[in-house]
Amino acid sequence: MRIGVLGAGQLGRMLALAGYPLANTFVFYDMSGNPSAGIGEVVTDQSGDKAEAFLARVDLVTYEFEHLPVEIAETMARSKPVHPAPRALQVCQNREAEKTLFGRLGIPTPRWQMADSAESLRQAAEELGCPVVAKSNTEGYDGKGQAVLRSPDDAEQAWNAIGHDRLMVEKFVNFSREVSLIAVRSSDGDVAFYPMAENVHHEGILRYSIAPAPRLSRELEEEADGYIRALLHELDYVGVLALELFETDKSLVANEMAPRVHNSGHWTMEGAMTSQFENHIRAVTGLPLGNTAPRGLSCMVNIIGEHGNIKRILELPYAHVHLYDKEERPGRKLGHVNVLADSYEELRWRVENVAQFLPGSPELDCSLTRTSPL
Ligand SMILES: Nc1ncnc2c1ncn2[C@@H]1O[C@H](COP(=O)(O)OP(=O)(O)O)[C@@H](O)[C@H]1O
Ligand SMILES: [Mg+2]
Repeated sequence: MRIGVLGAGQLGRMLALAGYPLANTFVFYDMSGNPSAGIGEVVTDQSGDKAEAFLARVDLVTYEFEHLPVEIAETMARSKPVHPAPRALQVCQNREAEKTLFGRLGIPTPRWQMADSAESLRQAAEELGCPVVAKSNTEGYDGKGQAVLRSPDDAEQAWNAIGHDRLMVEKFVNFSREVSLIAVRSSDGDVAFYPMAENVHHEGILRYSIAPAPRLSRELEEEADGYIRALLHELDYVGVLALELFETDKSLVANEMAPRVHNSGHWTMEGAMTSQFENHIRAVTGLPLGNTAPRGLSCMVNIIGEHGNIKRILELPYAHVHLYDKEERPGRKLGHVNVLADSYEELRWRVENVAQFLPGSPELDCSLTRTSPL
């Protein structure tokens, strides 16, 4: 199959790397003018008039990026299969549509309100009770376009700092940890789940994902499976869907979802029988899904901003290095290291060993290092 991918970043690169062994080829559609996939063919289209040329080169279309005009995906869907369907894109790129759908499907979320002025932001902060998190309704990623308000008096400053005309204001969740669930649905409607991962963010950017999440109760895992199953069904979804959640005292609250392979699923490259990338390719090309079982315990360590001492990491017998061939820049995702181990104790030790060669890596503050019970 000739697979067309909307977006041309590292997720697209890894989709292609997983898709070649199944005899697929890849064409990327880039609207940013700054493609980094570095693999396959790229159609750069900043004006939006090369969609036809892109479609002529592919058998089907999928995404690695959700912040592009939904009309483009809808137009493409009239001439080629687009998986997942454009409605998934529409919901995931708009926090209000996303949280409204969660509510309709009975998926718990933090309490939220919309704000379209500094004054309505202040009012929302008063009504919800501070602290609250204000987020741009569209275009947010890696914690960009967000501010925490400690008091309604912060509204003016937060409004100006975010600089968008519509914000979602959410009650701040005092979570014990962040987790995510990745599931995949085939064109026949089969669904497979990866074990949930525990995620550590630093300054809004994912730094570590541990899978399977330590000490996760079977009930919570089943609860999350039910939420994502409802979303897959509602959206008649084909491909990989990721759901980010907060774990609080014995319950889960949904944060957001992504209609694509996800950074918190990179551990599956060596840590699962079939990676999220291969399973996404299998799903969108109409093939049976692969086994999602873990091969052991793993942790993904993101390489952010600078490459650090990659050579030293490559000497470690348990580390798998993936580089995206991107220039160093503060806060930029440049690659990741997957670490495998047989026990959580060994995993912690190995991850800390890797992190010492990556400057700016935050402390591994998670349930591997905390002594208090979750
Ligand atoms: N309501 C909230 N309460 C507490 N922390 C939050 C809340 N919303 C977001 N955060 C923190 O900010 C991070 C980024 O927010 P998120 O909504 O996932 O935006 P992005 O689209 O940038 O990933 C989350 O992973 C979490 O650490
Ligand atoms: Mg997020």
